[in-house]
Amino acid sequence: MEVNFKELTFKGERPLVFILSGAGLSAESGIPTFRDANGLWRKYDPKELASIGALERHTQDVFDFYNERIKNAEPCRPNAAHIAIAEFQKDVAAFCDVIHVTQNVDNLNELAGSPRVFHLHGDFQTSQCRKCKKTFPRIGFYQREQVYPDCGANNFAVRPNVVLFGEIPYGMDWIPSYLKKACVFISVGTSGTVYPAADFVRETKVSLRINLDLDPLIHPYSKFNHRVYGKCTETLPPLLDELKKELITRLKEKPAE
Ligand code: APR
Repeated sequence: MEVNFKELTFKGERPLVFILSGAGLSAESGIPTFRDANGLWRKYDPKELASIGALERHTQDVFDFYNERIKNAEPCRPNAAHIAIAEFQKDVAAFCDVIHVTQNVDNLNELAGSPRVFHLHGDFQTSQCRKCKKTFPRIGFYQREQVYPDCGANNFAVRPNVVLFGEIPYGMDWIPSYLKKACVFISVGTSGTVYPAADFVRETKVSLRINLDLDPLIHPYSKFNHRVYGKCTETLPPLLDELKKELITRLKEKPAE
């Protein structure tokens, strides 16, 4: 694996590592990706099941689609890549900030013990009231008669807290500034086809793409300094170990303030 972390430059006393993950991170746990050969968007039309227009036009179809995905995700468990990220976050916490932004809506990072993960596209564990926009822990599955007690809205008022096509992802008020501060940006298991996440790499200096696809679907990956091909359960753990060792070495060498 030809990634040389020696080129990393740290600004200030605490380095920051920014990890962006996509469906490929959870693929080996049994959660389907979107654009692979057997991906969800090869079978279903996202405009008809995962867009704000679809939610307005045929709400129960959208609810059924998410209810199915939630049920299918329930037996899935974290894989070695989720665990590697969670362990890395905990191991370097004393001297390095790690921001993990995931495009995934599953909770496998949390189940892996990650101390902090940010869901750019929302998550299956929470719901949103369409009337007052409040979010709260999901109760069961989505159906017409659900009522949100605080504002009393009913009949399709409670929806999945998942960012649909046509909506703005979460966190875009703070993410760009952290991308700029990061000493390394690691993109794992994402096709880089959905914005704004696909553009995160533009804000960074040293970037690394970990993926399974040899030929990028679209999106000129020339912006990445490094690429590692292979399953993330095999490539990510040793890579994060390398990075942790480099961080420790560099911070030991740092002259005391
Ligand atoms: N290890 C590493 N990479 C993998 C693995 C694996 N085991 N399995 C699949 N991949 C790669 C695929 O090669 C592909 O490039 O993960 C990527 C998954 O790409 P997509 O299916 O497009 O998923 P993602 O990039 O997360 O999609 C982004 O699109 O539809 C929206 O909201 C949805 O969050 C999603 C967003």
